Formats: sequence, C-alpha cells, structure tokens
Amino acid sequence: VRKIGILTGGGDAPGLNAVIRSVVLCATNEVDLEVLGIRDGFGGFAEGDEGIMPLRADTVRGLLWRGGSILGCNNRYRGQPEFFLERMNELGLEGLVVVGGEGSLTVANEMAELGARIVGVPKTIDNDVEGTDQTFGFDTAVSLVADMCMRLIDTAESHHRVMIVEVMGRNAGHIALHGSLAGSADVALIPEIPYSPDHIARVITDRSARRRTYTLIVIAEGAVAAGGDKVLDEHRTKLAGREVLGGAGDVLAHELRARLDHEVRSLSLAHLQRGGMPTAFDRVLASRMGVLAARALAANRTGVFTAYRNSIVRLAPLTDAAGKVRKVDPEGRFLSAARALGISFGDGL
Ligand code: F6P
Repeated sequence: VRKIGILTGGGDAPGLNAVIRSVVLCATNEVDLEVLGIRDGFGGFAEGDEGIMPLRADTVRGLLWRGGSILGCNNRYRGQPEFFLERMNELGLEGLVVVGGEGSLTVANEMAELGARIVGVPKTIDNDVEGTDQTFGFDTAVSLVADMCMRLIDTAESHHRVMIVEVMGRNAGHIALHGSLAGSADVALIPEIPYSPDHIARVITDRSARRRTYTLIVIAEGAVAAGGDKVLDEHRTKLAGREVLGGAGDVLAHELRARLDHEVRSLSLAHLQRGGMPTAFDRVLASRMGVLAARALAANRTGVFTAYRNSIVRLAPLTDAAGKVRKVDPEGRFLSAARALGISFGDGL
C-alpha cells in the first residue's frame, strides 16, 4: 500500500483533529493509502521513530470534535526542507499533508519546489492565510470571542465600566472585527487601522452623554496607536526569539485612565481562543479539506493546498498562500457593515 504522512504545523487551531480524522478515513475508505502521523509539526522528522505515529481508522475514532491535535504542534522548531524530504524518503512516504498557517505552508511550498509531493491544508484561528476565504479554527475562535463579549457586557453595564478585551490575530484584525460584529462591541481596534486614544475617549464620553454607561472595546493584539508601535510581550519575545504580541489592551487601558474618570478594566482572552470543540462550521470545513487533501495525494497532485473559495473547497497553488498574510480590507464589506452599525475603529471616521 502507498504511504503518506500528515503533520500539524505552527500553533494549534480547533479542527486539526477533524482534518487528521478526515485524511485517515478517506485514505482508508476511498483511496487506499496508509497514513503516518508526524509528531509536533515538522519537529517529529528530527525525532526518529519517536516522532512517528501510525494512524488508522480506529486511531481517529471520536476525534471530530476534539480541540488541539493528537499529533502535537510546534511553532518554534525551524528545520531545513531538504532534511524533511530526506526523512520522507527514509520513511517511504510518497506524499505529505502539511496542515498549517502561512509559515508552515511556506515550508510546504519549498519542499514541493524541491520535488516532494505535498498538499497543504490552511489552518489558523487568525484567518490570515492568503488564497482562501476562510481557515478552519476561525469560526470557533470568533464564537468564543462573541460569547465572552456578551458576558462582559452584562457585568460592564451593571458596573458602568469600560471593558477592554484583547484578542489574538497577529498582524491581522479578522478575529477582532468579526468578534466585534458578533459580540456587539462598541469599539473595534485592528492592526490595519491605527487608533487614537483621544478619539476613543471621546466615543466613551459621547456614550455616557447618551446614557450608555458602559463601553466594550475589542482590541486585536496587533493593534497600534497612530504613531506608536506594536505592543510586544517582551519576556516571551526573548524566549521565543521571534516577535510575540501581547499587552495591547493594558496599554490602551492606561491611556484611557489618563483621559477619563471612568473605571477601565482590561483582560486578554489569549489561548482560550485556541482550545475547545470546533464549531459545526469548522468541523465541516476541516473534514472537506481533509478529504480533498487525501484525494489530491492519491491522484499524485503536489504544490497545491485546499482553498475555500466561494463556498467550494478546491485545490489552488501553494504559491497563492506561501509567504503572504491576508489582512482585513479597510475598504471591505465587513468593515463597512461594522461602521454602519456604529462600531468605532478609533480613527475618528
Ligand atoms: O497564529 C495563531 C496565534 O494564536 C496568534 O493569534 C498568536 O499571536 C500566536 O498564535 C500565539 O502563539 P503562542 O502559541 O506561541 O502563544
């Protein structure tokens, strides 16, 4: 039987296990491929036998709705595509499914260019992969943000507080924008639109004048004040040796306290956004992508990824996604709808 591998690269996202299950079930039921799981992203390639986990239909039972990845994830390991290719050959892998975000899909593309048979599956809660309308994990993260916003509004309204909630998304504001739309935030701050603390203070004062005694602000971790810099988690940036965002909400709280008498509180949803049961939408999307990836490898396709475009899951060149980041379009429909609903982006428009 022909053998393929699968790995889950980068940070985890709800739906990874659904993809693993779907690849294995399609490989077993339909296209007759054996599947080996590579543990901890690309890191498993460097771990000898320890890094490999054979996957069969009974291994993936009950995985559809489980968060995380049974294979483990790794967003620190940096290895060479040539080495991964060598390991694929040693393991007798004819092809590899790389489930990952922009970083992993870039490595996947390099491997394909070296001649490996690779199919990518885009994942990330951030929804910032170019070439696909949506990644699985995003819907689940946004649902969590929306749920938390409603809880925060209950308490903020009772205590007449300004509540700031920081969400993930790296340098893209999709989670903040969609979370604000679904969670009824008053202010949404995204990396694509620099904000002015003065203007946000005015929004809060104007709301008070209209007897709206609370304000809910959703801030993306990558949001910046006009003329300011991204807020980094210095400790973790040093540890990781790469830019780790964190603290944008606290910085804004500090700025607002200096301008207002209101009580201002801030919290970060952090990794709560990454765990838990994927929504039905994400389970379906992940399952469709897994099936297409298995079929694509069975048909000897390479250098492609499973893109979701206009509600169809189709194969697209990996070069559409590799090395690119999809940001929120400040002139786009979602943003325009949010403005029409009265959500402020802290820019005075
Ligand atoms: O890319 C996914 C993501 O969750 C980002 O939104 C966030 O900035 C980052 O990963 C956090 O990574 P870590 O797991 O290293 O804290």
